[in-house]
Amino acid sequence: MCGIVGAVAQRNVVPILLEGLQRLEYRGYDSAGLVVINNAELLRVRSTGRVRDLSEKSADTKGQIGIAHTRWATHGAPSERNAHPHLSRDLIAVVHNGIIENYELLRSRLIAAGYEFTSDTDTEVITHLVHSYYSQGMSLLAATQAAIVELVGAFAIGVVAADNPDQLICARRGSPLLLGVGIEEHFIASDVSALLPVTRRVVYLEEGDVVQVERLSYQIFDASGNPVQRAVQTSEMSNESVSLGNYRHYMQKEIHEQPQALADTLEVACHGHSLSTGLFGADAAAVFAEVDSVLILACGTSYHAGLVARYWLEEIAGIACTVEVASEYRYRTSVANPRALVVVISQSGETADTQAALNHAKSLGHIHTLAICNVAESALVRLCKLRFLTRAGPEIGVASTKAFTTQLVALFLLTLVLAKQRGRLSAEQEQQHLQSLRHLPLATQHVLTLEPLIATLAEQFANKHHALFLGRGMHYPIALEGALKLKEISYIHAEAYPAGELKHGPLALVDSDMPVISVAPNDALLEKLKSNLQEVRARGGELYVFADADTHIAASEGIHVLQMAEHAGYLSPILHTIPLQLLAYYVALQKGTDVDKPRNLAKSVTVE
Ligand code: F6R
Repeated sequence: MCGIVGAVAQRNVVPILLEGLQRLEYRGYDSAGLVVINNAELLRVRSTGRVRDLSEKSADTKGQIGIAHTRWATHGAPSERNAHPHLSRDLIAVVHNGIIENYELLRSRLIAAGYEFTSDTDTEVITHLVHSYYSQGMSLLAATQAAIVELVGAFAIGVVAADNPDQLICARRGSPLLLGVGIEEHFIASDVSALLPVTRRVVYLEEGDVVQVERLSYQIFDASGNPVQRAVQTSEMSNESVSLGNYRHYMQKEIHEQPQALADTLEVACHGHSLSTGLFGADAAAVFAEVDSVLILACGTSYHAGLVARYWLEEIAGIACTVEVASEYRYRTSVANPRALVVVISQSGETADTQAALNHAKSLGHIHTLAICNVAESALVRLCKLRFLTRAGPEIGVASTKAFTTQLVALFLLTLVLAKQRGRLSAEQEQQHLQSLRHLPLATQHVLTLEPLIATLAEQFANKHHALFLGRGMHYPIALEGALKLKEISYIHAEAYPAGELKHGPLALVDSDMPVISVAPNDALLEKLKSNLQEVRARGGELYVFADADTHIAASEGIHVLQMAEHAGYLSPILHTIPLQLLAYYVALQKGTDVDKPRNLAKSVTVE
């Protein structure tokens, strides 16, 4: 995800900008750049490598005011010419997060007015627009205000002008941006973690705010151009963006980060009026037009995400989908369909089995490849033609939590894009899905409020040695994921079954010592599931049911019901995952295991 840092100070700001960018690295990016003003000149340095490379390239660059950026490509390939800041006639420099939807229109108009474009980005139109007003004699503030009136879409921007070394203008609409208040110096950033070495005092800008930032002062204007006061807050964030904060374990922290991780992952996809195929890469439209099926390859939790996606892809997009455990696929003699879209899913992007499976698929003649991954610069991303980066942020706990739910969001977006391309999604359905996605972070927040109840429930598992998880339909993979979480961090043996399969064998295991955990959404299979639960209860099994509010499953002797909100339709598997993560976490606390580093396991499995 793109990141912005800016500074106005009496000292050289280049180290501040670079440190800030480094702290935003975890968000994922493909290029970086900065600009400072020195002797009425814009000194720009850009790099497609890491921030470290940018640091080396800017060793001799100095200035007391500047803006910097890490770019996550949306419009235009990741390349130096597309990296920010963008310049207009060596006078105006702009960094930008977000997407300008009407950039093509503005671009044609600016080209007709004589502006020369040197990148493929949507951002460059902002640069020239500001220039067009500034060169008419407007102040930098007024020129920026005039320019953003013309923008449709989402943005957070930082603007400087070569002949105005005292002012930095920033503005936001739809993308986050904050102001850092230092001692006789000021900063801007898209994320507070970027500013922690220089200040904790921040002003979170509101929608439509424009700020004139100077070394000794700043002035904020609201969306109507009226001066406003915004509260200065002291950030609670720890200096280390990967520190635990107030949480006991990374796993707990990462479970709680899910509303933000989902919002970040959805940011690029959902702020427009419609979904764009370009979310998956510049060549996605051409590739998706070619494909007639989907083959998903992944391991562990990422494999479970693929299993959920199969239900979505076949039901919504009407496209055949197979999901294979990567370590099996790589050694299996399979019949390749070169028109299949091969999707590899991975948090780390470094999992050896998944990489090998991808290479195996290629050796069989597969050419259409997509990586869904949380690490931009990882091997899998580099090996695939298309990509979608989840924005879960660094996941430190070995048990994957926020990576999983963000993978599900990515896969749901893929489903919608393919459905649209295949003429199976009306404009109205698209809007409904987008609305549900926009609501998802809030719905996730709501599920997290169940934490104290789940902590209490977990006490009943402390002396258990086995557990069964049940689900049906697209919630069967969620039962699998719940069982995996429980076994890997609490070391309780857990199995998951599609509930209808119970009577074909596992029912023999059920007695009063066997807790049976059931995912119970109010979907088409609810009545069938209820019958399966009766089968368990009749054998003395203790049931723990995670039920949607509208299922009307009541608690009674031997049936513990945890009430969720009302059924969330296709996004229900995402919401139903969270209580199972919490259950595993609190059972592990009961058992006193090493939650973040369970025995025998590693975060990135880079060996076979
Ligand atoms: C389980 C877990 C693992 C990983 C698996 C794949 O909580 O984290 O099962 O999901 O090792 O890892 P990635 O997604 O990095 O390819």
